[in-house]
Amino acid sequence: MKRRRVIYEGKAKILYEGTEPGTVIQYFKDDATAGNGAKKDTIEGKGVLNNRISEYLMTQLAGIGVPTHFVRRLNMREQLIKEVEIIPLEVVVRNVAAGSMSKRLGIEEGTALPRSIIEYYYKNDSLNDPWVSEEHITAFGWASPQDLDDMVNLTIRVNDFLSGLFLGAGIKLVDFKLEFGRLWENDYMRIVLADEISPDNCRLWDVNSNEKLDKDRFRRDMGGVVEAYSEVAKRLGIMPESVQGENKGPVLVK
Ligand code: TMP
Repeated sequence: MKRRRVIYEGKAKILYEGTEPGTVIQYFKDDATAGNGAKKDTIEGKGVLNNRISEYLMTQLAGIGVPTHFVRRLNMREQLIKEVEIIPLEVVVRNVAAGSMSKRLGIEEGTALPRSIIEYYYKNDSLNDPWVSEEHITAFGWASPQDLDDMVNLTIRVNDFLSGLFLGAGIKLVDFKLEFGRLWENDYMRIVLADEISPDNCRLWDVNSNEKLDKDRFRRDMGGVVEAYSEVAKRLGIMPESVQGENKGPVLVK
């Protein structure tokens, strides 16, 4: 039997060679890191939940015409995705002040922003993913002005749609991070949404109590990480099969 090839191992996911040309298998680990790997732990069941939540959100977005890398979920921890050339940027959208914006600009967490704000970070672990501007992005060729324009347009659509979707589930979409890739089809290239959308890369607060239902529970040692992610899945109506109808939290599947 041939062992499948690892293409890349990141902090929370592993990418394996796909089953068909032009595809990749994205495996969701239970590992969690914060502060660029300074804080590390394993949170049993997180990968299963993120796989399901990301599948659901990517599928909903595809339904409104947002192109994504997602093909289909394969099992509890894996999904088949299209092979793309990842653009080395993290695109962060903020609707409410929190996290690094609150720290950097001295704005109290929870303050509604006058409008949604998009920020860019250069994906580079050894530099701690520094904040960069459109000028840096185009000058250094990380993305062309056209790529950037496509990314911004998609980001605005994603934010509008997901804000409404989460609000319908009693959740405030405070901020989130997106990644994009270049998908080549014959001689044509288009920008598609890549990576994952899950409580690992969104800030999600209960709309009434502002209770945190996202990775800040891990970053800030608040506990109840899996319970919070399960709550998000439950409210979206997508609890994994193994935990449906139970209140015990997800069952570990290796
Ligand atoms: P920040 O407030 O720490 O800049 O984070 C903004 C949003 O982006 C938050 O929802 C978490 C997400 N994010 C990631 O997914 N990966 C990262 O490396 C960083 C810095 C933030």
